[in-house]
Amino acid sequence: MDRLRTLSDKPQRNDLYMTENTQELQPLPPLQIGEWTLNVPIIQGGMGVRVSAHGLAGAVANEGGAGIIATVALSLASKYYKKAKDYYKANIKALIDEIEMARELSPNGIIGTNCMVAIRDFEDMVRTSVEHGAQMIISGAGLPLRLPEMASANPKTALVPIVSSVRAAKLIAKRWNNLYKRLPDAFVFEDPNKAGGHLGVKREQLFDPQHAYENVVPDLAEWSRKFYNDEIPIITAGGIWDRADIDKAFSLGAKGVQMASRFISTHECDAHEHFKQSFIDSKPGDVVIVDSPAGLPSRALKTNFTDTLFRGGDVAHKCIATCLSHCRCRDDKETFCIAEALHHAQQGDMERGLIFTGTNATRHDRMMHVWEIFEELTGQRSPNHPQNA
Ligand SMILES: Cc1cc2nc3c(=O)[nH]c(=O)nc-3n(C[C@H](O)[C@H](O)[C@H](O)COP(=O)(O)O)c2cc1C
Repeated sequence: MDRLRTLSDKPQRNDLYMTENTQELQPLPPLQIGEWTLNVPIIQGGMGVRVSAHGLAGAVANEGGAGIIATVALSLASKYYKKAKDYYKANIKALIDEIEMARELSPNGIIGTNCMVAIRDFEDMVRTSVEHGAQMIISGAGLPLRLPEMASANPKTALVPIVSSVRAAKLIAKRWNNLYKRLPDAFVFEDPNKAGGHLGVKREQLFDPQHAYENVVPDLAEWSRKFYNDEIPIITAGGIWDRADIDKAFSLGAKGVQMASRFISTHECDAHEHFKQSFIDSKPGDVVIVDSPAGLPSRALKTNFTDTLFRGGDVAHKCIATCLSHCRCRDDKETFCIAEALHHAQQGDMERGLIFTGTNATRHDRMMHVWEIFEELTGQRSPNHPQNA
């Protein structure tokens, strides 16, 4: 089977000359995920609500990485959502728009979606993604045991579960193989000690070195090598910021990295400027752990919202989206409406907004373009460098 597909007829990274802005670094190897080849082995992590939509995904795809649209609650900032009962249908329409716009930005790049198992319209998001040309589905916040069945309309769509242990990876691979005669095209291991958003371990297990990628990635890589002839690449996520982090991850057996927080303070990120600026303004001690209504700990930036929450003050209690399958806000009238809090932040309302972040928040010091970040990480001139024109 010909598994290789070239990205575009644009100049490829390795053909480009070094400039004063790029450093001499070894070229990063391409990453094969199912049918698709990423010229640069970087997946941009899905960031809901609408922090990674078409703008960021298209820009990353144009750099040779995988641009990922987070599907959760996309409708909230769309023309399709007027009231709570519109929510599910509006999400489908908003997702179609986002995939189409990302594809317009990057006709030849790799565009995928992030679909969370814990979301009520998980299946709709997967089916819509596949039907509208997403080349890759990254799926976590639960075990995506039925994902191959939901994505069966296009066998070329790469299916990539997010896991937080070797046990979870083994379970998924075994189940998919037994039921669907299909294996995951890659696994993303998300390090709960460093990643942003919902974390895959209980609060009391956070910061246990046993869950750190330095411990788990070598085991996952060894398992893939031993049982699957290295054909399931392991991608690590959480705390990856610079080229030294990437080199370290590769030395431990990773074949790629998923990076999310790093892309927030970019011109192309789909969130409001206030959202991006709060990363640039953040100080040591500003990264906090919040108990999410999904029943998981989550990592966030300290804001007025988190201050009020920790004081036991009044935060948004009314469910506006019925987004989660199990929700303490909707079902027990406890905690807060996470869709609303994330949506407020994305819209720039820093008083009422919840901002997810990985542990690297304070490393943001200026706004950048996505192409600049890729130049820094690869040490090579970007095909989208403005002076190429
Ligand atoms: C603002 C934000 C929103 C996120 N939203 C999602 C999401 O909707 N679905 C998901 O699977 N992961 C989500 N994540 C996790 C990222 O995709 C990623 O795996 C993780 O943050 C990687 O760590 P890093 O931010 O240190 O690079 C989110 C992370 C951030 C920072």
